[in-house]
Amino acid sequence: DLPMRVRIHEVGARDGLQNEKTAVPTEVKAEFVRRLADAGLTTIEATSFVRPEWVPQLADAEELFPLVRDLEGVRLPVLVPNRRGLDRALALGADRIAVFASATETFAKANLNRTLDESLALFEPVVRRAKDEGAHVRGYVSMCFGDPWEGAVPLHQVVRVCTALREMGCDELSLGDTIGVATPGHVLELLSSLNEQGVPTNVIGVHFHDTYGQALANTYAALEHGVTTVDASAGGLGGCPYAKSATGNLATEDLVWMLQGLGVETGVDLGRLVATSAWMAEQLGRPSPSRTVRALSHK
Ligand code: HMG
Ligand code: MG
Repeated sequence: DLPMRVRIHEVGARDGLQNEKTAVPTEVKAEFVRRLADAGLTTIEATSFVRPEWVPQLADAEELFPLVRDLEGVRLPVLVPNRRGLDRALALGADRIAVFASATETFAKANLNRTLDESLALFEPVVRRAKDEGAHVRGYVSMCFGDPWEGAVPLHQVVRVCTALREMGCDELSLGDTIGVATPGHVLELLSSLNEQGVPTNVIGVHFHDTYGQALANTYAALEHGVTTVDASAGGLGGCPYAKSATGNLATEDLVWMLQGLGVETGVDLGRLVATSAWMAEQLGRPSPSRTVRALSHK
């Protein structure tokens, strides 16, 4: 059975823009977030408080966050890798953070300059303090379905990291298919394994990149399993600078088109969202990779 309603966790302003070659002016980013909110998205990942040398595209987090933090009725999670990042986020009034772990050693090293266990140790005090401050904490797990260096990723590795994040106190998990290699059967296998190991479906979100065109099929499988939180990026922007072969996320428009057809509520106004992504594509100087954006903006 499909859910009645899906909560879209919009990542375009973070996962999307972190990977852009062009420097996007802070005011354009703020306008992007405002327009996404205006299109009905209620969870909009705004930026990252990471080391600016690692992701220069999001080095303006201090300038951007105050421009959007007062948006009515919108949750604005931000990425935080360590204590320093948490201090920066809390100082600006952020009340939802996300730490980001990896199911593989190689990506933990590439993305966080730590072994997998060192990265979990890095997050532990961050999650504890964030919870003490009353913040909501999401725990991402990257490379859940395959890794560009290590190849196939065994289910038990993913389960171990998910369980560790839950034990730390993460309210929600997001299963990342960072390089877009997952297929629906694999998604169902992982969800079942997690359930068997005590991780309930209602704390699990899915985060698909569309490298092999499987993101929507994978999402459908997850919805049938009972997942109700789906990450997507307006216009299909995105990728990860520290994972070769990562392309954009599942496009929010493609997701909304499918959900509308299925009669699943999202609260999103598709026309406004398409207009926003078409506008953003102009700012970036290249067409949106989303099929739905292209189909609806050429009418
Ligand atoms: P490091 O180079 O090992 O840094 O980076 P460090 O921990 O040794 O710290 C050295 C110095 O860096 C510090 O000095 C600070 O000055 C500075 P000290 O405190 O020791 O005197 N520094 C910072 N400055 C500002 N803000 C900070 C910060 N931290 C340290 N937060 C680090 C380690 C984790 C910081 C680095 O690797 C990093 O920032 N990584 C982030 C990479 C990233 O953002 N990747 C993309 C997001 S993940 C993703 O896209 C996947 C996802 O979409 C899901 C999926 O698709 O799978 C979520
Ligand atoms: Mg991602």
